[in-house]
Amino acid sequence: MRRVTVRKSSVHGRGVFALRAIPVGQRIFEYRGEVTSWRQASARHRRSGRPGHTFIFGLADGRVIDGSVGGNGARWLNHSCRPNCEAVEDGRARVFIETIRNVKAGDELFIAYGLTVGEAITPELAADYVCRCGAKRCTGSMLDLTSG
Ligand SMILES: C[S@@+](CC[C@H](N)C(=O)[O-])C[C@H]1O[C@@H](n2cnc3c(N)ncnc32)[C@H](O)[C@@H]1O
Ligand SMILES: [Zn+2]
Repeated sequence: MRRVTVRKSSVHGRGVFALRAIPVGQRIFEYRGEVTSWRQASARHRRSGRPGHTFIFGLADGRVIDGSVGGNGARWLNHSCRPNCEAVEDGRARVFIETIRNVKAGDELFIAYGLTVGEAITPELAADYVCRCGAKRCTGSMLDLTSG
């Protein structure tokens, strides 16, 4: 029985929603896509993507999974400053999305993107990453402002 579906989100565009209650600690699905270099994925994104809108998932070894090529429903996961899921990397360039809280039927599933940019955060750049998750303690940004 399917546990999640993709539909319109009040946070942004499409999101992933639970079709039934899912307890904490459950693996939902793999974040699928092409494993490639950061350079190649960002060049592809510059050609066809919008600034601040990406399906690129960073791996610990510096490569990325580009969900825009061969990706699955996981690429529609939105960011929240109080997520109910996390991404777990298995060390062999595979990433799995797992619940870190009990999820109710109808809840949207979120991860914390933990995005970093290798440059100074100008107002223009910050505007590309404004967070609309609606959490009580929303930081206002999808960027991980604690790192760097
Ligand atoms: C991987 S996509 C997620 C799917 C997206 N909702 C869509 O329909 O394409 C990531 C993009 O969704 C948007 N997004 C995700 N979470 C957001 C949030 N909390 N606030 C504002 N935009 C968000 C941003 O544009 C981000 O770059
Ligand atoms: Zn937020």
